[in-house]
Amino acid sequence: MRSFEELERLHGQALADLAGALTTSALETWEDGYLGRKGQITLQARRVGQMPKEDRPAFGRRVNEVKQMLQGAYDARLEEIRRGELSRQLADEAIDITLPGRPVIPGHLHLTTQALRELYSIFAKMGFEVYEAPDVELEAYNFDLLNIPEYHPARDMWDTFWVQDAGEGGDRRLLRTHTSPGQIRAMRERYPEPIRVILPGKCYRYEQITVRSEHQFYQLEGLAVGRGITMTDLIGTIQQWARLYYGPDRSVRIRSSYFPFTEPSIEADIDCILCHGEGCAVCKYSGWLEIAGAGMVQPVVLQNGGYDPDEWSGFAFGFGVERPAMQKYGVKDIRWYYGNDLRFLRQF
Ligand code: DAH
Repeated sequence: MRSFEELERLHGQALADLAGALTTSALETWEDGYLGRKGQITLQARRVGQMPKEDRPAFGRRVNEVKQMLQGAYDARLEEIRRGELSRQLADEAIDITLPGRPVIPGHLHLTTQALRELYSIFAKMGFEVYEAPDVELEAYNFDLLNIPEYHPARDMWDTFWVQDAGEGGDRRLLRTHTSPGQIRAMRERYPEPIRVILPGKCYRYEQITVRSEHQFYQLEGLAVGRGITMTDLIGTIQQWARLYYGPDRSVRIRSSYFPFTEPSIEADIDCILCHGEGCAVCKYSGWLEIAGAGMVQPVVLQNGGYDPDEWSGFAFGFGVERPAMQKYGVKDIRWYYGNDLRFLRQF
């Protein structure tokens, strides 16, 4: 008889525990404890064999009844708890669809990209196509072939980031310090055709970063090679570019200068876009802004490109992209370009 009492006690305990199980995980524990493989009710059922023969049928029936009732109560409770958890989750995750949306701010082109594209279209009108040369250059293309030998003092103008491993033929590699090495590449690829290209690209100099200079910046180089090209063509091209980019009433001033890869060499200025020549902080009270270095391609450089200087001539020019855009848009600090501050970038 003790077995029957024990079974009823367990039955009552199981129902009480079930009522106290408030989560699905508490329910699982409950199921393990009573109905699982080693659960207490399961163990009761296994004891049937050890009972006096006459008790076995009644006990067996009762164990099964209890088991089924508990199973039914468990299923019902599980369903109830699941529903409760679901509705709590739905309430927690509810979205108030009546709230106004947050605006998505679309991106746009970086100021430098805008400036470059404007320059491409200006030079396209004059028949220049874009020619791209690599950022990692061989020393020979960046210097020697441009008439800047190892001992040449002009090398001081281009403080260089060197690349550790050497390139073809053991030549040292570097991050180009200017876009001029692309001139040699364009000539060697295009010979014996006449050439009219612009060479845009990023340049790198091992320099102190200041309000006016970054160690990475864009340049735009130009190269024209043909028969009978003269300084007049160069000056006309610079004037046309200056007026299309800076405004139709710009004056252009040409000064003589020196670059190893051009002869003669010049520098071009425009009247200050801010004070129109009166003198202000932007032009350092000179009335003029320097816009480009240029010149007639040095005969040695033409030859290095494969063109016979007795038959061919050419002009070249080069200028920075960020600084002119600074003047045009009134940007006071070159570091703002790549500082990634959206308050700056979104203005353009
Ligand atoms: N490569 C020069 C520099 O980085 C700029 C330059 C000057 C380019 C004169 C030219 C040129 O093509 O003719 O300062």
